[in-house]
Amino acid sequence: MKEKLTLYFLITLVVMISLTDSSYADLMIAKFDVDKTLAFWTPEKIKSAKPLTPKEIGFRNKTSRVKNSKIKRDDNQSLKEPFDNPDNSLNYPVGILSITDPDTGALTTCTASVFNTDNGNIGITAGHCIFNNNGRQYENLMFSPGFDIGAPGPLGFLPVAIAAAPAEYNDDPVAYDYGMFRVDFDDGGNRLQDRTGANGWLLNPTQDNLITTVFGYPQSGDMPNCPNDGLHLCVIVRNVVVSDDESVMPDVDLGTGSSGAPWTINHNTDRNLGYMYGNEAFYNVQDNQSESPRYDPETFNDLVEYVSDN
Ligand SMILES: *[C@@H]1O[C@H](CO)[C@@H](O)[C@H](O)[C@H]1NC(C)=O
Ligand SMILES: *[C@@H]1O[C@H](CO)[C@@H](O)[C@H](O)[C@H]1NC(C)=O
Ligand SMILES: *[C@@H]1O[C@H](CO)[C@@H](O)[C@H](O)[C@H]1NC(C)=O
Repeated sequence: MKEKLTLYFLITLVVMISLTDSSYADLMIAKFDVDKTLAFWTPEKIKSAKPLTPKEIGFRNKTSRVKNSKIKRDDNQSLKEPFDNPDNSLNYPVGILSITDPDTGALTTCTASVFNTDNGNIGITAGHCIFNNNGRQYENLMFSPGFDIGAPGPLGFLPVAIAAAPAEYNDDPVAYDYGMFRVDFDDGGNRLQDRTGANGWLLNPTQDNLITTVFGYPQSGDMPNCPNDGLHLCVIVRNVVVSDDESVMPDVDLGTGSSGAPWTINHNTDRNLGYMYGNEAFYNVQDNQSESPRYDPETFNDLVEYVSDN
């Protein structure tokens, strides 16, 4: 009897494990060695990292959205309030993301941000800041929320433990150019967002035009009053036109280094929090416009769940 129970238990376990795996088969996944990351980034290396220049994506064929029928999640949330830490004089959800290219060894930077999740240690950036042009995961991802004027934020640099991007990113690197990650953060029971605050999110904005605030670390481009050295947190507020599969900021180059920067509406300057609905994917040279993916709610929630639970 005992053996049978054990066997039953084992079979159940195997079935559960394989079910869990197959339900995530549609995400691109990257895992990191946190200790290696911490050892890798000396202060000199952090200083020498240069903003990432995304590959030129000129003309692209529009793809219709691939519906992810395999995954059925309980969570299909489209709206979440910002998470405000009243102890912060100002919240600091946006930070620099330092990465290294596995193929070239180049040390580069992107922009990332904390957004409100139950887990509390989750950030979002561009897909092309997690996977390189050859589809390989970048290495040594490290996030410093509140980084500015060349100095780390109040929490220093936090190693990324796991990251994931939509599977569709491979075929349509603009409309799906986003990815999420979880940092290893342990601060006496506080989660990352308890310290930094976190943007809310709005996945289905109904307006066609959105007054949008974007913070990032550009080395070039059109952000006003910005030294463009990749070391200063800069901000721009512009109108954005929303279409089915992407959002467009006309006549603006957000600059290299802004890749992954959150596109937010209803930004509250007193608390430094807003509602994220997109992120900087790339600057389209031909049309002189910056472009962001639209987040498909199911994929977005899948990613949140994956990086929270793994
Ligand atoms: C776009 O679609 C056309 C026709 O299907 C195809 O010939 C072309 O290679 C595609 N271009 C890209 C960049 O995918
Ligand atoms: C999730 O929500 C979107 C709209 O917000 C809807 O189109 C989709 O069918 C929902 N998916 C599930 C599995 O409920
Ligand atoms: C993009 O458009 C803006 C506004 O018209 C203009 O100031 C800027 O020079 C343009 N940039 C390029 C590279 O054409």
